[in-house]
Amino acid sequence: MNLWYDFLTNEQRSIHKWTHYFPIYERHFDRFRNTDVIFMEIGCGEGGSLQMWKRYLGPYARIIGIDINPECVAFADDQIQIRIGHQADRSFLAEMLSEFGSPDVVLDDGGHNMADITGTFECLYPAVSRNGLYLVEDLHAAYWDEYGGGLHRQGSFLEFAKQLIDELNADHTRGAVQPTEFTRSTHSMHFYDSVAVFEKGRHLPKHDLKTGQSRPG
Ligand SMILES: C[S@@+](CC[C@H](N)C(=O)[O-])C[C@H]1O[C@@H](n2cnc3c(N)ncnc32)[C@H](O)[C@@H]1O
Repeated sequence: MNLWYDFLTNEQRSIHKWTHYFPIYERHFDRFRNTDVIFMEIGCGEGGSLQMWKRYLGPYARIIGIDINPECVAFADDQIQIRIGHQADRSFLAEMLSEFGSPDVVLDDGGHNMADITGTFECLYPAVSRNGLYLVEDLHAAYWDEYGGGLHRQGSFLEFAKQLIDELNADHTRGAVQPTEFTRSTHSMHFYDSVAVFEKGRHLPKHDLKTGQSRPG
């Protein structure tokens, strides 16, 4: 199934996505298809994206929709569970984790407020499964005042993420940055227009290696 085609031909519940996100989704979500993935989307909107993930991810996927709007309970369906709460409420998120276990994928498409995005990330990212991923979308809001954003503004999620680049590389900073659980559990960070993706994966011991001959004879 082609996610872009599915989106374009959707005649059921409304889905609201920027078009350039689709290649990003396909690139990062493909490996979870037809697995028993626990996929958590923050921000249910009108319910169509939950159905789209269900169609895309296949019959073993478990989709958890989180929203602050109680009307979203109407989007519950086979394979889709809805829980109502504020995305940055730590005790609510702790309940989600104890009920559903470690999510394999978290997609933050909620309120887009910088403090909330960061708070949600700090709470949920450590709980994402060992090879899972965390995607934040609509990060154009990171440049917009009304969402707590602004270029180089402290508290913007992108400024927070820039610090995480140093944390990812902490082992090479000669002690300037102490390795953290983020260092140890993160494989890679990807930045796109309005989207950030954090992929988990354990690091093996690191070393460099030179192969071949300096003067091949
Ligand atoms: C952009 S819509 C989601 C669109 C949907 N994912 C889609 O692709 O069609 C944002 C949703 O986030 C919800 N929301 C806003 N603030 C929130 C918060 N603090 N916690 C949880 N959900 C929130 C809104 O009620 C709304 O349903």
